[in-house]
This record gives sequence, C-alpha cells and structure tokens, in this order.
Amino acid sequence: MAKTSFSCSACGASFSKWSGRCESCGEWNTISQDKGLSTGPASKSLGAKRGQSITLTDLSTEETPPPRTLSGMGELDRVMGGGLVPASAILVGGDPGIGKSTLLLQAAAQFARSGLKTLYVSGEEASAQVRMRAKRLGLSDAPVQLAAETNLRDILTTLEAEKPQLAIIDSIQTMWADNVDSAPGSVSQVRAAAHELTTFAKRHGVSIVMVGHVTKEGQIAGPRVVEHMVDTVLYFEGERGHQFRILRAVKNRFGPADEIGVFEMTGGGLAEVINPSALFLSERGEPSPGSVVFAGIEGTRPVLVEMQALVAPSPHSQPRRTVVGWDGGRLAMILAVLEARCGIPFAGLDVYLNVAGGMKISEPAADLAVAAALLSAREDAALPADTVVFGEISLSGALRPAPQTENRLKEAQKLGFTSAIAPAGGKAGTGGGLTLRRPADLTGFVGETFGAG
Ligand code: TYD
Ligand code: MG
Repeated sequence: MAKTSFSCSACGASFSKWSGRCESCGEWNTISQDKGLSTGPASKSLGAKRGQSITLTDLSTEETPPPRTLSGMGELDRVMGGGLVPASAILVGGDPGIGKSTLLLQAAAQFARSGLKTLYVSGEEASAQVRMRAKRLGLSDAPVQLAAETNLRDILTTLEAEKPQLAIIDSIQTMWADNVDSAPGSVSQVRAAAHELTTFAKRHGVSIVMVGHVTKEGQIAGPRVVEHMVDTVLYFEGERGHQFRILRAVKNRFGPADEIGVFEMTGGGLAEVINPSALFLSERGEPSPGSVVFAGIEGTRPVLVEMQALVAPSPHSQPRRTVVGWDGGRLAMILAVLEARCGIPFAGLDVYLNVAGGMKISEPAADLAVAAALLSAREDAALPADTVVFGEISLSGALRPAPQTENRLKEAQKLGFTSAIAPAGGKAGTGGGLTLRRPADLTGFVGETFGAG
C-alpha cells in the first residue's frame, strides 16, 4: 500500500490525511498531497518484503578524512572547516543585500580556478547581470559555468548531465519544484527544493551551496526550514551601514561550529580581513565614558571589539533597554545583578548597549565588559584606553574565568593594550606582558574600577 503524505503550503506542517483546514496554522485550502521529484517513486510503506542486510562496523574503524578543496579565500576556507568537502550540502543564509551573491560568485570563481568544475545557477538575476558583476569583480576569466534558471527539474537534469563538482544555487527561495502546488518561496517549495538538492548532492557527489534569504517576518520560509537538512549552515551577517561582513558557521558536520570569517565590502567585492580586531577597533577615538574593549573569542580566533553603552535619565515610565549585537535578556540579567549585588540601581534610566562595527557577540565572557560599559556610562567615567575587559558574571555576583584567557590576553597585547581586567582561574601571576587585574567578584570590580560604586 502506498503511503501518501500531505503538507500545508502556508506553514509547512505535514499530515497523513487531507483536510480542508490546516490544524497547525488554521489556513483553509492549503493542504495538498506531497509527491517525489528526482528521489524516485513516492515513499511506500515497508510492508512484509524483506530488505537487505546492512554491513556493520565498529566505532574504531579508521575513517579517512574527506579530501577537501581550498578556495584560496582563507576566511571562507576556515569557516567551512578547512575547505570544501565533496558531496556536501551547504546553506548560506543572510539578509537580502548583505552580499551573499557577491561572496558566492567570488568563491565560485576561486574554486573554478583551483580546478573544480563549478556551476553557478542564478534564480534572481539574468546571466548578463551576473556576468556584469563578474566583470566588475575581475572574475570574467574564471571558468565558471553560468545559468539563469528557476525550474528545479531542469536544473537537476542539467547537473546530472554536466556533472560539476560544485553547484551554487542562488537562491533557494526562487527555486520552483513543479511537483509542489505552491508559489516559489513558500515553505513547501523551499523545503522540497532543498530536500531535492541535498539528496542530489549525496547521490551524485556534487557539493551544493544554496543561498537562503532570511525573511524579516518570522523567518517562516527562510533558511530555518532548511537548516536540519544540510551539512553546513553559514550565516552572512553585518549591518548595512557598515562595511564589515561576518560569515559565521552555525552548524558544521565537517568542522567546528561558531567559526567566523571576516570580510570587508569594498567597491571591488568582498576583501578578506586578516586582522579583525584592528578593524573593529579602528573607529575608536579618545577614551570616552561608556566605551569598553572586550577581548572575545569567535570560534578559534580572538577578536577584540568595543562595547558601547549609553545611560540617561528616562522620560518614560518604562525606561528603555535597547541592545544591538548582544542578547537583551543577558543585559537585563547584568542590570539586575548590578542592582541586587552591588546596590547600583538603573531604575528610571534608559540603557542602550551597542557592539561596535556591526558585530554580534554571544559569549557569556562579555558580561564583565558589558557591566564595565554600563557603569562607565552611568558614572560618566572613562576606563583607561589601554585596558581590555572580559569574564562571566553569575547571578550571585561572582566572576567566572573565561575560556582561552591566554589567547585573549595575547591578542590584546598584540594590538597594543597594556592592561586587562579579568577573573583568572588557577594559575596566578602573568597576563603575558599585560598588567592583569583580577577582581574577586563584581562588587570588588566596581570598587576597584569606579571607586566605591
Ligand atoms: P549582493 O551580493 O547582491 O547581496 P545578496 O545576494 O545578499 O542579496 O550584494 C549587494 C550589495 O553589495 C549591494 O548593495 C552593493 C554591494 N556591493 C559592493 O559594495 N561592492 C561590490 O563589488 C559588489 C558586487 C556589491
Ligand atoms: Mg543575491
């Protein structure tokens, strides 16, 4: 007996039977039957037929690491975990206009030049537009094969015939699978297209990179529905007004997640940033109240960024708490700890926190730098310009040492900082060549840094 499944074209929920109204999102007439495309006949129930016995191995069986191809763009290669793995499916997500097409056209050209047979399929731009961009970026000579197409069936057939080693699909939202009865960009289409492409990658040994726009409204048909299908998920982040762009691995079956690559958007495309700390700190002027340099770690790399806080009397009955580049909940926690453990109230004050340069920080080690920025802004007292701060704050007001303290200190020293404030565990003494101040707890830190507090 053939088992059929149905899914909602509005929210993507799947059901075993048809109904007029989706139980999940409440939309009417959105449920339709799913059909397979290149994956062969629609899935059948297993029934009584016996399958074949599977070969089993033990855990110690040696596995040769997959051969990887380097693009030559060091930042990209590192984020991918050390180059491109054959037959892998990669999703590159990001806001529209952030530079995904630019990055992938450059990457395609690099991979093609290093000998990979590379195909670039644009569903968003005409071939002429892509060629113009390639010309502007100085990539016209790269042996990339180009197509402007959105019909997934035609694309898969072409890939099967051309047998490229790398195919770039820009973007997954423009792809149209003719076996799914909903508009391109809808959840069912995006999911079906991503599934077909991922399966194709595995079956035919092609690496496939899919571009996915992050949609502002809840990211419904955005890359999220695709994330679990692919091997690697990279997000391209940055603020439109800034030239910095960060490529961040949020999932990687072939390498460490949380690795970042830093790029700069220039007139001639994306340029790699070899020393991100220097770039993030380049806009820093004289020491000013509310500004604190945080020595962070992104993936395997130390990165120094400036935390900026502004604290001002609030005209509102509900004072504002605005955060850019950090977690709002974490800010609320730091404010609560400062109030409860150190007796420093922020009631009646608006609080703004910004991570400079469009960087996003998620490390708990930023707690102490945030607290320092908040206090510095509140007390209108600048910290010495040559000081970096890091460390985690617990609800009790205790300070916890951050991982990779040595690396953070080394990076700070490399960039000309002479002192650090950080809770350090175990080994006493040195902070490399830096003067290291190690407050015992948050109250101690407040007292030492801002007088009695
Ligand atoms: P694009 O790669 O088209 O973004 P996405 O594919 O993520 O939607 O990049 C668009 C922006 O990049 C556009 O605003 C112009 C800018 N840009 C440059 O600044 N320099 C360049 O060399 C290129 C190609 C684009
Ligand atoms: Mg694009």
